[in-house]
Amino acid sequence: MSPRATASIPVATRIGGFVYAIRNIVTEARKVEAAGRKVRYLNIGDPIIFGFQTPPHLIDAVETALRSGQNGYAPSAGILEAREAVAADCARRGMPVLPDRVVITSGTSEGIELALTALAEAGDEVLIPVPTYPLYTAVLAKIGARPVFYRTDPARGWLPDVDHIRSLITPATRALVVIDPNNPTGAVYPREVRRELVELADRHNFPLLADEVYADLAYDGAVPAIAAENLAAPVISFSSLSKAYLAPGWRAGWMAVGGDDRLDGVLAAVKKLADGRLCSNGPMEHAIAPALVGDRSHQDQFRADLRARAELTTSRLNAIDGISVVAPAAAFYAMPKVTLPPGKTDEDFVLGLLRATGILCVYGSGFGTRPEDGFFRVVFLASPAELSSIYDDIGEFTREFLR
Ligand SMILES: Cc1ncc(COP(=O)(O)O)c(C=O)c1O
Repeated sequence: MSPRATASIPVATRIGGFVYAIRNIVTEARKVEAAGRKVRYLNIGDPIIFGFQTPPHLIDAVETALRSGQNGYAPSAGILEAREAVAADCARRGMPVLPDRVVITSGTSEGIELALTALAEAGDEVLIPVPTYPLYTAVLAKIGARPVFYRTDPARGWLPDVDHIRSLITPATRALVVIDPNNPTGAVYPREVRRELVELADRHNFPLLADEVYADLAYDGAVPAIAAENLAAPVISFSSLSKAYLAPGWRAGWMAVGGDDRLDGVLAAVKKLADGRLCSNGPMEHAIAPALVGDRSHQDQFRADLRARAELTTSRLNAIDGISVVAPAAAFYAMPKVTLPPGKTDEDFVLGLLRATGILCVYGSGFGTRPEDGFFRVVFLASPAELSSIYDDIGEFTREFLR
């Protein structure tokens, strides 16, 4: 009999590049909890865990679907009713598309993965903002494609540096990722910047991948689709029910492929990939039409609650010596900067804060900023009273840390 094999089974090397700090850091938090300290989780942008509630008419729609036997596989591109509703919503946002150019996905996340997989070969380049939502770099690591990072500037309200983007374009550029409104910075881009970004994609003939998951959560009112700047340009818009419709666990999202016929091949490739995973979560697809064409009045209250928390966050953090933050204009994230002592990193600050106070933020380098720059991300969905006590503790810890 041959001896029993005991060597550990290797994992693919590509996993080394698949880093998602927002969840990876939870391992550290669990150790702090195991040592008996309560952890206050400010790492994940999930409104539900902070008491915000999914609109009841969406829950009713899913329940009706479940009880009326809608439990089989859905069409791989999604049920027609949902695709029509997304097309109508895109038109409302200034991006008219046919339902046939909409694919229903398991959240924005799956749309991003499908699009990048359809677009990029190993070695190709994709323009990604810094800081970025980390799924983009993680998916590129999986594909073997290369993120090429463009600057967004905290001194200019975290706006993208369009000249920098221009200087990074090469024959290997396959797409430009734009996250507007932005996670992690909370920035909303002005019209001139949006127009320049769309023109770059149009002129250089690569798609602009428009992550618009926070479009309805800008405090001054919903942001139009970036594709509206030039309807012939190759733009793919991504969104979901996760944030503005308060149903992140449902994994109900979509992508809409705009522009003239330049993206027809990419759309066909995405649909081919979508066939392979059969469908997104069928019953949840039945909430998409009620969400997008039904009552969305919950968003007024949500935006007002977010604006109040953003103002509290900005004023309290800017009052701490050594910390500065750009006021967010949308969503529930802020990206403060702490002026670090020489030799210290953003991770030192965030882990120190966690161990000393139980407050869990994510270090900026998890979003691509330099460790020595001292950025960290705060999710400000907790109640104003809780946030206030959190900012007291961040102030106290920062005074000690910088002493
Ligand atoms: C910018 C951005 N894109 C995509 C996602 C993923 O969203 P979904 O739940 O729709 O997959 C998030 C989630 O936080 C996000 O912040």
